[in-house]
Amino acid sequence: MSKRHLTWHPSHIGREERRRLNDHGSCVLWFTGLSGSGKSTLAYEVEKELYRLRCRAYVLDGDNIRHGLNKNLGFSPEDRTENIRRIAEVAKLFVDAGIVTVTAFISPYRADRETARAMFREGDFIEVYVKCSLDECERRDPKGLYRKAKAGEIADFTGVSAPYEAPDKPEIVVSSDRQSIEQSVACIMNYLRNGGFV
Ligand code: PPS
Repeated sequence: MSKRHLTWHPSHIGREERRRLNDHGSCVLWFTGLSGSGKSTLAYEVEKELYRLRCRAYVLDGDNIRHGLNKNLGFSPEDRTENIRRIAEVAKLFVDAGIVTVTAFISPYRADRETARAMFREGDFIEVYVKCSLDECERRDPKGLYRKAKAGEIADFTGVSAPYEAPDKPEIVVSSDRQSIEQSVACIMNYLRNGGFV
């Protein structure tokens, strides 16, 4: 690429100023898991709990972001990589703005999640593995997508005709087929409290 003559302009307001203003820290809770594992449900419950505690929080959700910012992307490996790259960039801005950012994307490739992690300060990227067996996700099938994928009506469907690489060392694991929503939310909130984020 030719030299682009760009200059980075630093802000006068940093993370510490924003922490003092908000009275809480910021980070990204990066949810990953199969379709139907409960990522969005848990993400919005955590957001609600943070709101109750008067913390600034915002959910970036796969289905929603694919309606706008990422509407030109499909589900090939390359498009999923670009999807996650853009979300990580957006999440980085949100974290810089002092917001507890909750992302809910399948993010099936370990390498893409590691690339996203590397964009954040040590400790600010909190990977939350929403663990749920494929059998249970297929049984729930909240959007009827597994049925369609198995009938050959959707190509590259995660868990059916496209891979899901589970995290090796996530900061948090919640088992949505064994724990209640309340238990999972409590586990995530404890992590945020213990880490001094809220
Ligand atoms: S990814 O893999 O992170 O880029 O996917 P994401 O942006 O989270 O989008 C997942 C949602 O898109 C719907 N959908 C599909 N998912 C997986 N594979 C295929 N082929 C597919 N086609 C559409 C589906 O509603 C996913 O939402 P969740 O909430 O995960 O079920």
